[in-house]
Amino acid sequence: MVDVIPSPSVIVRRGRVEELNQLEEIYRQAYRGLEEYADTTTFRIRNYLNWLYSGEPEGFFVAEVAGRVVGFVSIHAEWWDKCLGETGELHEICVHPHWRGKGVGRQLIEAAIAYARGRGRRCVSLWVGERNWHARRWYRSLGFEECGVQLGEWVRMIKPLEEAHDQ
Ligand SMILES: CC(C)(COP(=O)(O)OP(=O)(O)OC[C@H]1O[C@@H](n2cnc3c(N)ncnc32)[C@H](O)[C@@H]1OP(=O)(O)O)[C@@H](O)C(=O)NCCC(=O)NCCS
Repeated sequence: MVDVIPSPSVIVRRGRVEELNQLEEIYRQAYRGLEEYADTTTFRIRNYLNWLYSGEPEGFFVAEVAGRVVGFVSIHAEWWDKCLGETGELHEICVHPHWRGKGVGRQLIEAAIAYARGRGRRCVSLWVGERNWHARRWYRSLGFEECGVQLGEWVRMIKPLEEAHDQ
């Protein structure tokens, strides 16, 4: 008989300010090979994590597996974009490489989108590094579109939010 070990389930919940420092390592691991799009010193990473969190703590979610945080997302729903107007700006999403491809990122982004919709936003937007091919493809698979706007090496992507069952 073959033992089947069930994979532990993923819990997505709000992040806490005292957890921010432990996210540095997840951020570093997630951006290995993509350092051109990331902060790389402890000082800058911790500043960045603090900026993400303090900008809108309610929009900061972590994914936990068996009591361990393995990824996080930050969205600011109180955001104004000169082209879009009010938008849910997805600033960051990271999943530790050991946990990639298991739907953790999808659960995080769904929580962020649900939050933005709950705040009355009609779209979610983000900037992604132009050579971050995996993320660009992943966002497209989740309904984001590249709208033709690029700022230096950053590509703008937008997902309109429909009223009810859109994800
Ligand atoms: C983008 C990112 C958050 C996605 O997280 P994730 O947990 O791997 O996402 P999911 O598991 O929901 O989806 C990954 C997709 O890649 C596929 N995949 C399969 N094997 C994979 C692997 N070894 N690694 C990554 N993805 C894999 C999955 O099947 C899935 O495709 P699907 O949606 O068609 O099923 C994650 O890759 C990451 O942290 N990247 C580095 C940071 C980054 O680029 N962030 C975006 C900045 S704008």
